[in-house]
Amino acid sequence: MPRTINRRNFLFGSALTGVGLGTASLFGRATYARAAGPALPLIPMMDLTEIEGPAVDLPLLKSAHSFGTGNKQATFGIGAPYLGPMLRVNSGQDIRFHVKNMIDEVTTLHWHGLHIPGDVDGGPHQEIQPQDVWAPIVPIRQRSSLNWFHAHTHGKTARQTYLGLAGVMQIEDSDSLSADLPKDYGIDDFVLVLQDKQFDSDGQLVYQLTGEVFEEGFTGNRMVINGHVAPVTQPVPKGLVRLRLLNACNARFLDLSWSDNRPVHVIASDGGFLSRREAVQSLTMTPGERYEILVDMRQQSEALLQVSDSDGGGEAEEMLGWMTNALMGPEPSNFSTTPVLTLIQNNSLPAYDGVLPDTLGQLALPDTEQVIRRRQFELNMGDGEDLAALAAAWGNLCGNGSMSINGRPMNMDIVNEEVAIGETEIWEISADDQDHPFHIHGCSFRILKQQGDVPPAYASGWKDMVTVGEGTSEVLVRFDHKATKDAPYMYHCHILEHEDCGMMGQFTVT
Ligand code: C2O
Ligand code: CU
Ligand code: CU
Repeated sequence: MPRTINRRNFLFGSALTGVGLGTASLFGRATYARAAGPALPLIPMMDLTEIEGPAVDLPLLKSAHSFGTGNKQATFGIGAPYLGPMLRVNSGQDIRFHVKNMIDEVTTLHWHGLHIPGDVDGGPHQEIQPQDVWAPIVPIRQRSSLNWFHAHTHGKTARQTYLGLAGVMQIEDSDSLSADLPKDYGIDDFVLVLQDKQFDSDGQLVYQLTGEVFEEGFTGNRMVINGHVAPVTQPVPKGLVRLRLLNACNARFLDLSWSDNRPVHVIASDGGFLSRREAVQSLTMTPGERYEILVDMRQQSEALLQVSDSDGGGEAEEMLGWMTNALMGPEPSNFSTTPVLTLIQNNSLPAYDGVLPDTLGQLALPDTEQVIRRRQFELNMGDGEDLAALAAAWGNLCGNGSMSINGRPMNMDIVNEEVAIGETEIWEISADDQDHPFHIHGCSFRILKQQGDVPPAYASGWKDMVTVGEGTSEVLVRFDHKATKDAPYMYHCHILEHEDCGMMGQFTVT
């Protein structure tokens, strides 16, 4: 892949589209809207905890949606113009879905984070043709946790997800239902779907693939939160407030913090509650990750949540970002402290008046005694023309490059690994170029090492995402459900352009 040439084209192209009055005025709004910005859209909750017989309709729609840039954009949605609902389910339920594909192109719907058999996992093998209905019965058998669902079509995941095929699923169990925590949805309990989108100077949504985009993944110039450009505001009671966060960006690593430097209180990760509350200055979220945080709104009348780019790419990337910003003027493609959400204390709302909990769930230490095998995975980028031709022949979407795992791009007909059900393993994952958010289907795992180090305390609970780069990452994993040759599980980079480009493999569990 001719990296330097792509980079120069990219810089030049961005500079051309980045200037102009429209862009500047958008940025002006972002700067001054702190306490008076538009309202945070609430992701509509679909409470399925009482549902018994009938199938739950999740139509995949072609639609139009306004992100707040002044006009409507062509989007996809799940029973809505953009994104889908927040599904609330109980552990122990079997939920029958009725997913009708109305988007005029083949797609799939994957349940990210769920411990379910491969044939209902919704990966690239469970294609739904246009106008067809996919009707999986999804058995919910895991701890309370925040999960999500999104398109997972071979070679087409990035664009379909970017355009809106994504939603959230919150699993409840006796622990979460009895926990002393705010849980009044839309009052003191919110889901925040964080994404970045590219808008041109007319406010039109852009998604364009170039060599540079394949390499870095697609990043935008605006943060979007629950489908509206940031920043937005939300009145909240004078008490504890719970935020359930999903990084649904295609490629952007986010560092979240409060503008007044109050600690971020993390209580849960991808797979459920941490054993104790972890207070940090900033919380790093890679694409695909979920975290729950608490904020105490009794002290200050406002709290401003902000994001900045997490340094996933080293000095060269930082330099590139700096140059891009300099050329593009005030509309950054690299984010340094971008405000996303102001919470405003409102005394007339019913407040959850409990204390910040110190301890949460029961979480055993990872038990490596049971390990019976290790597997190694190496994520590779741009490995030459032969592989690029293979990647294309195997249905990956990659321009004229390729990405692979252990030297092989994704191939729908090749099972890369065979895992025995119920056996504990350690997966060692590494990459030598940039950081990649690595995801495994069908499980939650524990991170033993993240890039050669112990993971941050907030990432040491149940996870299905681990950051991979220089220095090996190790996860302790066990699979309890079957995935056969016709419906294998995936492991892949969750930079969606990397996934589409072939940085994915598949495995059976039998
Ligand atoms: Cu979030 Cu394989 O997916
Ligand atoms: Cu997944
Ligand atoms: Cu990647």
